[in-house]
Amino acid sequence: MFLKHLECSACGLQHEWPRLQNLCRSCHKPLLAIVDLAAASRTLTRETLATREKSLWRYREVLPLPGDVEPVSLGEGGTPLLHATKFGDDIDLCIKDESLNPTQSFKARGMTVAVSMAKFFGATKLAAPSAGNAGGALAAYAARAGLEAHIFMPRDTPRANIIECRELGAHVTLIDGLITDCGAEIARRKEKEGWFDISTLKEPYRVEGKKTLGYELAEQLNWQLPDAILYPTGGGTGLIGMWKAFDEMETLGWIGKKRPRMFAVQAAGCAPIVRAFEAGEKTAAEFLDAHTIASGLRVPKAIGDFLILSILRQSDGGAIAVDDEQMIRVGREVGSMEGLFVCPEGAACFAALKLLQRVGKIASGDRVIIFNTGSGVKYIECYKS
Ligand SMILES: Cc1ncc(COP(=O)(O)O)c(C=O)c1O
Ligand SMILES: [Zn+2]
Repeated sequence: MFLKHLECSACGLQHEWPRLQNLCRSCHKPLLAIVDLAAASRTLTRETLATREKSLWRYREVLPLPGDVEPVSLGEGGTPLLHATKFGDDIDLCIKDESLNPTQSFKARGMTVAVSMAKFFGATKLAAPSAGNAGGALAAYAARAGLEAHIFMPRDTPRANIIECRELGAHVTLIDGLITDCGAEIARRKEKEGWFDISTLKEPYRVEGKKTLGYELAEQLNWQLPDAILYPTGGGTGLIGMWKAFDEMETLGWIGKKRPRMFAVQAAGCAPIVRAFEAGEKTAAEFLDAHTIASGLRVPKAIGDFLILSILRQSDGGAIAVDDEQMIRVGREVGSMEGLFVCPEGAACFAALKLLQRVGKIASGDRVIIFNTGSGVKYIECYKS
């Protein structure tokens, strides 16, 4: 473990890492972990990696948990990168299939690291708002760690997520509102209840777990990053994490300066990042009356909005919205063409790909990566005909 300190992503203020903490104590924006990469590189090399276990803990030196502490793990990471055989005809399309993680979504990556760190610091009760999949992952990792999980979800969260959380022993509260209302309820009660708020980007380590998406992708592509990445964006943690991983890998000397064009894919019924991107704004205003079947994309206001927008612009990428009907239709195409029962969030990226090709933002011959962030099985009610 070569964690040096935490740094505020907005004002740069340094924070000592060895205590349980949430946001920057000065400006209340997300804290990011700064790793001593020179020290990490003494044992972590591209060659040593090749001999290690498949789990994301293979990147141990650039992850925050002290080396003598056992992670809370269920075998997360190491998901396949599949070549699309039929979809996206004249481009070189690969699908990173995150549905093969524990609890069937990429949320396992963030939770294995964040729950490991919270346990290490002595937290006993963890609380999070969730669109669904983060709740399932928190419930599983908290159970594994012997900690309490308090999960707040919108009442219309897919049923599989709610049942999963309950069966994994979590305390589940359903709220008549959106994920932002769930977050507000936790903020109101956490002090009195003794909960540690493990909301995404409101503690420093879920993004560290998510950054392994970037490490894995580079490794699977033989250290040549793709031309474009399409990522279904709610809170944007994976996008922010991948971008951090790319910078770390460049410092490690594993990759060059080239970065993929990063595209945030959102739902037409909840597209705060798309609106802000198009308006040239640095932050995104709350999206009112948010609605979409892609529950993971129903995030009307993201604390990391300024980071997401900056990455989209720096990378010469963009932001694009897809309506629910398109998601379901294209999701079916992906299913029958590629053999993957994708989640609506993943399906949104395939629909967005078609739109981006049409307007020339993705050209023939481009190598493109789509993240299927979870399994369609969790969304049975969306797919019923
Ligand atoms: C399946 C799925 N995809 C994408 C997202 C959005 O993830 P992020 O917060 O990293 O933008 C979520 C979040 O709940 C999700 O469950
Ligand atoms: Zn700050």
